[in-house]
Amino acid sequence: MEKVGLSPLDPSSFSRPELAIVTEILINLNVNFDKKILLGDVELSVKKIDESVNEIILDTSKLNISSIYDVESEEKLEYNLSDPLPEYGSKLTIQLPKKESNSYKIGVKYETHPDASGLQWLSRNATAGKKHPYLFSQFQPIHARSVLPCQDTPAVKTKYTATISAPQEFTVLMSAICNGTKELHGGKLSHFVQKVPIPSYLIAIAVGVLESRKLGPRSHVWAEKEIIEECAYEFANTEHQLKTAEEICGPYVWGIYDLLVLPPSFPYGGMENPCLTFVTPTLLAGDRSLANVVAHEIAHSWTGNLVTNRNFEHFWLNEGFTVFIERKIKERLESPQSQDFDAYTLVSDLNETINRLGKDSPLTKLVVDLKGVHPDDAFSDVPYEKGQTFLRYLEMTVGGPDVFEPFLRKYFDTFKYKSIETKDFQAFFDSYFSENPAIKSIDWQTWLHSPGMPPIIPDYDISLAIVCDNLIEKFLKWDGEGVIPITPDDKKDLTSSQIIYFLQVISEAEPQSIKKLEALNAVFGFDNVKNAEIKFRWLRTCLKANWEEKVHIVLTWINIVGRMKYVRPLYRDLYRWEAIRKRAQENFLANRHNMMHMSAYTLVKDLHLEL
Ligand code: BES
Ligand code: ZN
Repeated sequence: MEKVGLSPLDPSSFSRPELAIVTEILINLNVNFDKKILLGDVELSVKKIDESVNEIILDTSKLNISSIYDVESEEKLEYNLSDPLPEYGSKLTIQLPKKESNSYKIGVKYETHPDASGLQWLSRNATAGKKHPYLFSQFQPIHARSVLPCQDTPAVKTKYTATISAPQEFTVLMSAICNGTKELHGGKLSHFVQKVPIPSYLIAIAVGVLESRKLGPRSHVWAEKEIIEECAYEFANTEHQLKTAEEICGPYVWGIYDLLVLPPSFPYGGMENPCLTFVTPTLLAGDRSLANVVAHEIAHSWTGNLVTNRNFEHFWLNEGFTVFIERKIKERLESPQSQDFDAYTLVSDLNETINRLGKDSPLTKLVVDLKGVHPDDAFSDVPYEKGQTFLRYLEMTVGGPDVFEPFLRKYFDTFKYKSIETKDFQAFFDSYFSENPAIKSIDWQTWLHSPGMPPIIPDYDISLAIVCDNLIEKFLKWDGEGVIPITPDDKKDLTSSQIIYFLQVISEAEPQSIKKLEALNAVFGFDNVKNAEIKFRWLRTCLKANWEEKVHIVLTWINIVGRMKYVRPLYRDLYRWEAIRKRAQENFLANRHNMMHMSAYTLVKDLHLEL
């Protein structure tokens, strides 16, 4: 199904940058916590591309526009705002001022809607300090339009500057370099500049009562004061990760790399907002074991943020490449074994996803068709894991990292500051390796356009898994009588990644008896574990055993933690358990007002609550 009015070049946007394009954005907004709105104006620099057009088309969603004008002459401009297309927003068509030149500056005065899909307004109770409200944004894939009128397609890249006014006690952060704050009768003005052209989905803002700690020469971590020391400890390796990424990818062009640790309702593990990665507090395991998410977001500084998918049909160019680089960072900072262990274990997650979506589902293709499909509905680990598997396969085929890594750097250098499609990557690869006879065997068609599991899965080094496999087998074979055949000594030698893998396999096996799980818990202490990856798999294992006592624990956890990677599977598990289904649905309905729009939107479907 095609959605009327959407662009032929980007099925998720109304904008037509091939006719007239936004080249720069100036943002001027006031943060109003009482009304839960941002209000002010933006100034868009616009360049006409097609001489014959007299208008510029922008994306908007629920914006309350009061006027649109030519910034130079201050004259009002005529505009038309279409009826909203659910989840895509309204097409805004603005008549360009009549003048000789092809460049324009257009001002839009507006305010956002309290339910803007790209913002989460938290009440003080949802923060660690419980004293002040909090605001954060999440624009990827297509929620920027709910905060500013823009060409909300990653095909368009612009620099931006911003001036944000907020109450005095708050810190305002953006995906940009802060170049000063100024006090202003009871409030505070913060100025930002992002000099590198970025797609709209990388504009980001957070406003809270925050502290910071220095992590390295170009990095600070920001968080509420209650958790700031914990954050500084957990992410102490950031500079090592950055340096390693630079060795692999080339120079880091963004100047600063800061981290913001959000309140627990943040729906993702991490978001690669330039200069300021957003992360979930569920990474605070206490032992730095989940820092691969930071390596992942750092890798996006090249894959995604420099070389960008032209639309979200080619999302694997962002995420598959990023997982691939993330694992290369891990290989260098830890070991080749741990890189491969991650790849190996994540293949089983991919398998679960593909079984759930269906082996023939078009959403299991690497390159997807998003005509009539919202990118938030297409989101899964397919572009991540199938994408990284493809790149590992390509690397192996052309002769390994010594040959492939120089190619990668050339790829980044060639396509930096651009937005590309899969065919651009393929053509570049083919020309770079044109002398390499091995490339003839690559079946691009199957890899890119066939549904299902990757056609080839590389031989990963699984030495770290083998130790666990023995324990897993002992446990699964155990009939639950007598003492559990796993001792605290066995546990002592396992890393947290191995415990995660151990529980992953157990959670995918036949349901275990509660008695066996109690014995397992006595050895591992899963009930009190801080590591969210372990907790998540433990709770899934318990739900699979229909362990009723744990339902309350699951519900309490997912009412606080908004990370969709945990919340969605847990809700789906609860849904599958018929006796609990209703309770799960009611729990969701009672809490949906605390969630971001996207989270509620996807969970409504997972829980079959659609009317
Ligand atoms: N860019 C993504 C998050 C995202 C994707 C937000 C699509 C909205 C739409 C981010 O880089 C990401 O992949 N995060 C992962 C990290 C993991 C793969 C290490 C996550 O959130 O778990
Ligand atoms: Zn990513």
